[in-house]
Amino acid sequence: MNKEIKLVDLKPQYEEIKDELWKEWEKIFNSMHLMLGPNMKAFEKEFAEYSGVKYGIGVDSGTAALFIALKAMGINENHAVIAPSFTFFATIEAIVQTGAHPILIDIDEKDYNISPSKIKEFIEENTEFDGENLFDKKSKKTIKAIIPVHLYGTPAEMDKIKDIAKRYNLLILEDCAQAHGAEFEGEKVGSLGDAAAFSFYFSKNLSALGEAGIILTNNEEIREKASMLRVHGQKDKYTHQFIGYNSRLDEIQAVVLRLKLKKLDSWNQKRIELAEYYNERLKELPLFLPINFSHKKSVFHLYVIRTDRRDELKDFLSKNGVGTGIHYPIPSHLQPALKYLNYKKGDLPVSEKIADEILTLPMYPHLKEEDIEYIVDKIKEFFKL
Ligand SMILES: Cc1ncc(COP(=O)(O)O)c(C=O)c1O
Repeated sequence: MNKEIKLVDLKPQYEEIKDELWKEWEKIFNSMHLMLGPNMKAFEKEFAEYSGVKYGIGVDSGTAALFIALKAMGINENHAVIAPSFTFFATIEAIVQTGAHPILIDIDEKDYNISPSKIKEFIEENTEFDGENLFDKKSKKTIKAIIPVHLYGTPAEMDKIKDIAKRYNLLILEDCAQAHGAEFEGEKVGSLGDAAAFSFYFSKNLSALGEAGIILTNNEEIREKASMLRVHGQKDKYTHQFIGYNSRLDEIQAVVLRLKLKKLDSWNQKRIELAEYYNERLKELPLFLPINFSHKKSVFHLYVIRTDRRDELKDFLSKNGVGTGIHYPIPSHLQPALKYLNYKKGDLPVSEKIADEILTLPMYPHLKEEDIEYIVDKIKEFFKL
């Protein structure tokens, strides 16, 4: 019998918080304190505490969190920023929107994250360092920052990235959009760089019921600048210290996030168990499966497998009622919008190969083991095992 299994099903998350949520929303609508209110302030504190960081600055999306964090870190058109090519496009978009030049680096095929050895290789071959500034010979800009992305919920190799940043005087902005609660050597992501950006897009491990994001930092200066940038560069009402943006985290979303934050650890644990369940049952098949790293904890935002018969398998699963995804089919260096950077096919071979082979299987905390059994049976049928 054919089943229908969605790639993500978020309704059960809503069901878990529904009763409390409507009570909280009622309070908000009665008070009509809709913006920059008590729920945003409480959530900023609660999420910063959860991640082991001093300050949280709520904004209206993950993209805004990346962009505003970069601005607050002083990134501008005189600078270049290192990032992985293989990421959701928003990471790179945020760099370009500051006027800075993105330097796109290949990934490691084991964890799909930026490769520290390829960053080093780039620096050795393309830059000059005068003890303070790292100068990129091609773009003629000063490289100021690295954005490691913890893709699919698995932390990037932060110890090696931190070493590079220290050696060359670079700032680190973690892109944690897919990794709420993930850990590197026992420390939560979001606490490992100079600042971090999180998305609460509706499908993320911690998600709003609309758009939302947050910046985390231990740096008082970044905190102050970012919280002014999100409201038109103002500290006091109607006095604008600089040109900012409109990017507030509203109360309706903040209260959703407060209620879901209480569930995040148990939902993440569920994802980890489901990933183990998949791994165990798929291990005999000719597939590359997610690796279980001993020094870092993935929170399996996505469960991604790899095969060179990806498109055929995707089609087969779809015909059998299983929703799948490709995150992401085109690496950033080959995106039409970045043509001006003059990258060409073959420049970042791992990203390109991975983009052709990856397939995201259904993953969400309320997915059932019997659903995984069905998916695995269908994959076995595909490989005729
Ligand atoms: C890695 C990554 N960075 C940034 C973003 C942007 O977040 P948002 O959609 O909230 O703007 C996302 C998700 O959408 C993402 O997956």
